[in-house]
Amino acid sequence: MQKNPLSEGLTAHNTPEPFVIVIFGASGDLSAKKLIPALFSLFTHNHIIDFTIVGFARSRWSSSDFKEKTAALIHNRFGTQTTEQETAEFLKRIHYISAPYDTDEGYTLLKKKFAAQKHLIYYLATPPHMYEPIISQLGKNRLTQSADSTFKIVVEKPFGHDVTSAKLLNSKLLSIFKETQVYRIDHYLGKETVQNIIVFRFGNGIYEPIWNNRYIDHVQITVAEKAGIEMRGSYYENAGAIRDMVQNHLLQLLCMVAMEAPNDLEPDSIRNEKVKVLKALRPITVDSPQPAVIRAQYRAGIIDGEKVKAYRKEDKVDPHSIIETYVCMRLFIDTWRWSGVPFFLRTGKRLSRRLTEISIQFKTPPHLLFGQADSTPISPNTLTLTIQPDEGITFRFNSKLPGFTTKMRAVNMNFTYGSSFAEKSPDAYERLLLDMMLNDATLFTRNDEIEQAWKFVSQLISCFKNDADKNLFFYNAGSAGPEEAHLIMTPYNSTWRKL
Ligand code: NDP
Ligand code: BG6
Repeated sequence: MQKNPLSEGLTAHNTPEPFVIVIFGASGDLSAKKLIPALFSLFTHNHIIDFTIVGFARSRWSSSDFKEKTAALIHNRFGTQTTEQETAEFLKRIHYISAPYDTDEGYTLLKKKFAAQKHLIYYLATPPHMYEPIISQLGKNRLTQSADSTFKIVVEKPFGHDVTSAKLLNSKLLSIFKETQVYRIDHYLGKETVQNIIVFRFGNGIYEPIWNNRYIDHVQITVAEKAGIEMRGSYYENAGAIRDMVQNHLLQLLCMVAMEAPNDLEPDSIRNEKVKVLKALRPITVDSPQPAVIRAQYRAGIIDGEKVKAYRKEDKVDPHSIIETYVCMRLFIDTWRWSGVPFFLRTGKRLSRRLTEISIQFKTPPHLLFGQADSTPISPNTLTLTIQPDEGITFRFNSKLPGFTTKMRAVNMNFTYGSSFAEKSPDAYERLLLDMMLNDATLFTRNDEIEQAWKFVSQLISCFKNDADKNLFFYNAGSAGPEEAHLIMTPYNSTWRKL
């Protein structure tokens, strides 16, 4: 069943055919924080009815233990929004297999108990180094082919560590599964406001004519977090902000803003346009006198009145670590549409507030009639798409101040999801899981898309390979980031939007 989310409105009405979903790494953080709650919510909203969840992990739990833990997390997460009966019905559908990921034992059991089912979904939610052994075991134990069943595999991020490892993982997956069976997750694509970028751009006639270098001065994309690295020290030490956030979420946002209109809403039509953007990214070099990238790391500081520790003091982090927890950069897309328009991207942890937004700053009028007499600089028109929190769209323009004057002031025209729509948006994981169950890959990343994104990011990382320590700045937790962030804007007379 091939359905298109963007053409079908906000709610998918189809329910998937009966399926079994096997979660590898079911004892972990992602499973408890995102996957089980998303499956529960889909169940209570009648989007999924006939299904079995099999937790697969090494932790020595029984199915009863897994049910007990699931019941507790449902209680904590949904509280009075759910009933005991709903929880009990959900728990009936849950099983657990305790086994190593790289030996036959657990897979033999999986085959015996569940392989006769018609639709099997495998979800890789272990640390990434276990993906390959699990894929091999699935293949070896003939859990990926049968005349009577269909199989899909969902792969969590990070998908590889660089371009080479991403290619290796792709070829491993594609030696056992077909591309149409593989769903690579980037949960930003599941966010309602991210999907709305395409609707906003291509569902309205007025923006397309001005969406180019003739009218746009620059674009700023911000993904700021108040949160630190939480309990993920060992992962983050091998990733840093560039791999953790830029390679996937920020580049996906960039693609949504910069892509050409697809011919239709077929998954491949959209993904083809995104790949073109990634291919047109100009490689970043760091040897010019004007820095194009600033990396930084948080020191101790105060957030919401609470003292928070420095990155180097976090659990499982090297006390001399030179990993960046913040990065900002200036990018160019070498196409006719975007020639000469800088895209400024920034992301960081432990900043003053949580904010994800895309802000399009338009050029000022060619001849200034107003705002000169009193030397007040004219504010550029700005269109800001707020992805989270306070989801909405704001257009900022100049207006005459009331009275006997031609003085101007910038004012806002606002749309907010909260006040315009009564319906609450589904969580990104709910959306993505349901689309995958309904065979819709539009909001998942294709193999060539991932490889192109890594190509750009690997080249960027290689620029810092030899002197990453010299190229690292610092900022206080709870601040707007490092002071040096303005340096990448200086040549373009721009400033970062206030955080
Ligand atoms: P965890 O570290 O919690 O690991 C998940 C499970 O994998 C663990 O419960 C453990 O199960 C098993 N595991 C842990 N370490 C190892 C190891 N060294 N060797 C073999 N098995 C191990 O990870 P998360 O749940 O946080 O993340 C899972 C995946 O999802 C990762 O790829 C992560 O990058 C990705 N992700 C996570 C997010 C999050 O918010 N947590 C957000 C986005 C992506 P057991 O010991 O029982 O086998
Ligand atoms: C994950 C990153 O992919 O996205 C985390 O690994 C980050 O480090 C998270 O905190 C941010 O997601 P969101 O949805 O909270 O913006």
